[in-house]
Amino acid sequence: MPLLRFDPSGSINSDFGITEDQIAGLSDTLGNLRTEMVETDQQQYESGQIPENKQPLDARFFWLPEEQLAAYQSDRAESELGRIFQVANGMHNEIDAVVVLGIGGSYMGARAMMEACCDPYHNELTRAARGSKPRMYFEGNNVDNDASSALWHRLKAGGSGPTEAEQRFAIVVISKSGGTMETAVAFRQCLAALEESLGDQAASQLGRFVIPVTGAQGKLHDLASAIGCQQVFSVPEGVGGRFSVLSSVGLMPAAMLGLDCMKLLEGAVAMNEHFRTASYEDNVVLQYVAVNHLLAKYRDKSIRVMSVWSKALESVGLWYDQLLAESNGKEGLGVTPLTTVNTRDLHSRHQQHQQGRNDKVFNNVIVENYRTDPLPVGHSERNQDELNDLSDRTLPEIMAAAIKGTNDALHEDGRPTTDILLPGIDTHVLGQLFQMLMIATVIEGRLLGINPYGQPGVEQYKRNMNKNLGRT
Ligand code: PA5
Repeated sequence: MPLLRFDPSGSINSDFGITEDQIAGLSDTLGNLRTEMVETDQQQYESGQIPENKQPLDARFFWLPEEQLAAYQSDRAESELGRIFQVANGMHNEIDAVVVLGIGGSYMGARAMMEACCDPYHNELTRAARGSKPRMYFEGNNVDNDASSALWHRLKAGGSGPTEAEQRFAIVVISKSGGTMETAVAFRQCLAALEESLGDQAASQLGRFVIPVTGAQGKLHDLASAIGCQQVFSVPEGVGGRFSVLSSVGLMPAAMLGLDCMKLLEGAVAMNEHFRTASYEDNVVLQYVAVNHLLAKYRDKSIRVMSVWSKALESVGLWYDQLLAESNGKEGLGVTPLTTVNTRDLHSRHQQHQQGRNDKVFNNVIVENYRTDPLPVGHSERNQDELNDLSDRTLPEIMAAAIKGTNDALHEDGRPTTDILLPGIDTHVLGQLFQMLMIATVIEGRLLGINPYGQPGVEQYKRNMNKNLGRT
């Protein structure tokens, strides 16, 4: 399977970017940070000897893909992955929809995978066209009355066919802490809707159709026991929410959709191997960190735009926004991430990006091979739109022209770009990309002197919200 590539040439420029010498100058520092991540973190985590300034050390996401594949090889039935497959595959024939309840890192990865890898109209397809895979909805990520009401009604309406399966849904509820207000409230409401829909069967079936993914203890864990959930999946110790996409948090929903979880993990393993062994000059993770860090440091690029050139990747961009913002937005430091989807957003944001404040770097995410056959513009007898000269040109050709045209235009106005080149969009490539960006975020945080793990700043709003609700 080919590895994704990184091309920083649109940022190597003595007028508006950075220089090869500056990149080379970071080689030793980044090499040391790589060693810290590859060797020291795991030793410290496993021995429990974690220095004060590295608390919390949620570094396990790094070796988790290998760990999970090895556990599955040695015990197919009882490993976490084996249990995920049993539940997901055993349920397809019995349900038509799944509601994934979670917020932040507890749902954004699953949503990104669904949007990247499933048919964009997945939920609108017939059950047969979906291969009996369930429709999937995401809630518990807000307390929006209308959104919640609409979803509970939608679930009640069921699928389009007459079978029992088409009237049934399951809940995957994900919360590491088990106490997040938005998710807990949605779970209470959705559980009531599920119980009602199961009617007489509720007593025997509720515990099968509720699938919790949570920490080893906490309110959700207790609730799962009270409900009698047959399978409870874990958010592994040492894995933070926004670093959990390749644990049960992302894998359970992905397996429900029939996505290839093995390939997802294998893609992440391939990226780990590349990160560990590739030279500094060829290392996509270290080069990505170096270029973006130097642009922030020497060119004041405080806004990092991830420009995705595929609609399917919008939620991957939003997942990265959350990862970077919550990890490195600390102590008055860290850049501001922003996702744009092109060419769509060339008509909504580009004027500012081209000529507004020059405080941005544009990291393009470019898909080299689309899944479907290239669509030509087509010839027409009604040429009032004057497109016949392009009749043989395809959408990928127009996209390529737009990408080059946009990069060239940005450079003319002194704006740096880089390209992350994806060989295609599939689970292997997504596994690579997730792992690349998670590793890069940790390395970058440490380069800034920040602990990328933990999110102390989010606690204050939670305390205030509870106080405003009359809780002490
Ligand atoms: O990245 C994080 O840690 C957060 O976004 C959490 O995932 C989010 O706050 C949800 O937390 P929990 O899974 O405990 O409900």
